[in-house]
Amino acid sequence: MRLKDKVAIVTGAGKGIGYAIAKRFGEEGAKLVICDIDEASILKTAEELKTLGAEVLAFKVDVRNRTDVDNMVKEAVDKFGTIDILVNNAGITRDAMFHKMKEEDWDMVLDVNLKGIFYCTQAVVNILREKQYGKIINISSAGRFGNIGQTNYSAAKEGVVGFTRALAKELGSKGINVNAVAPGTIVTDMYMQIPEHIREMMKIITPLARPGTPEEVANLCLFLASDEASYITGQVIHCDGGIFMP
Ligand SMILES: NC(=O)c1ccc[n+]([C@@H]2O[C@H](COP(=O)([O-])OP(=O)(O)OC[C@H]3O[C@@H](n4cnc5c(N)ncnc54)[C@H](O)[C@@H]3O)[C@@H](O)[C@H]2O)c1
Repeated sequence: MRLKDKVAIVTGAGKGIGYAIAKRFGEEGAKLVICDIDEASILKTAEELKTLGAEVLAFKVDVRNRTDVDNMVKEAVDKFGTIDILVNNAGITRDAMFHKMKEEDWDMVLDVNLKGIFYCTQAVVNILREKQYGKIINISSAGRFGNIGQTNYSAAKEGVVGFTRALAKELGSKGINVNAVAPGTIVTDMYMQIPEHIREMMKIITPLARPGTPEEVANLCLFLASDEASYITGQVIHCDGGIFMP
């Protein structure tokens, strides 16, 4: 068991990639603290993960709400004693051509994808600093390089990368690894919002010639959350079928 007795928070775990990460971490022995803005989905996830044998605490949390986030971390520490791993996964898109983009869609995407990471990470950082151990994994996106109709999302996801690198430099001497994962096209509800002709085009430009699965992203997150990745920090690792080759 690669995460035996580690306490892991996964945001946006009600479905999609977050769900797969929580499940994979649970299979490897982690105690799970999962949250989502969608209460029904996070409660359902919690029940499923418990039947697989994981210890689970589930919360309805909007990552844009600092009080929600702080309360979750406090209750998690009361119950499990500490935090070891944070996966900042919750994310949304609100696509529009820039000349038509509403300010509320700009703000919403920046708030969930970037400000939410600020709140969640600040809520745990002193716990990790004190114990001189921790793994922070931020979910960016291959969209960080810039997609038509996604100025808000691309700005947020490239922002996640800058945040990851700066924080990795701050926390490296404290024994804390901070990395980003940049998925390409992964089959989730978010992916299904992409128009079909664009999905077909994505297959053509993907060397592995298919979209990925949430489990494939979860396996990378598991590696980064484990001590097998102890000498890796400040990196952005793409899980995108080879679209981006550095
Ligand atoms: N699916 C893809 O192709 C893809 C590609 C690149 C990056 N990503 C990123 O991966 C992450 C997960 O995406 P997904 O495809 O699983 O999406 P999804 O829409 O399937 O799931 C996202 C989850 O986050 C939750 N959420 C949304 N806003 C929230 C908030 N304010 N507070 C708490 N929870 C909230 C949703 O309720 C949902 O359960 C996101 O950060 C996304 O940007 C996805």
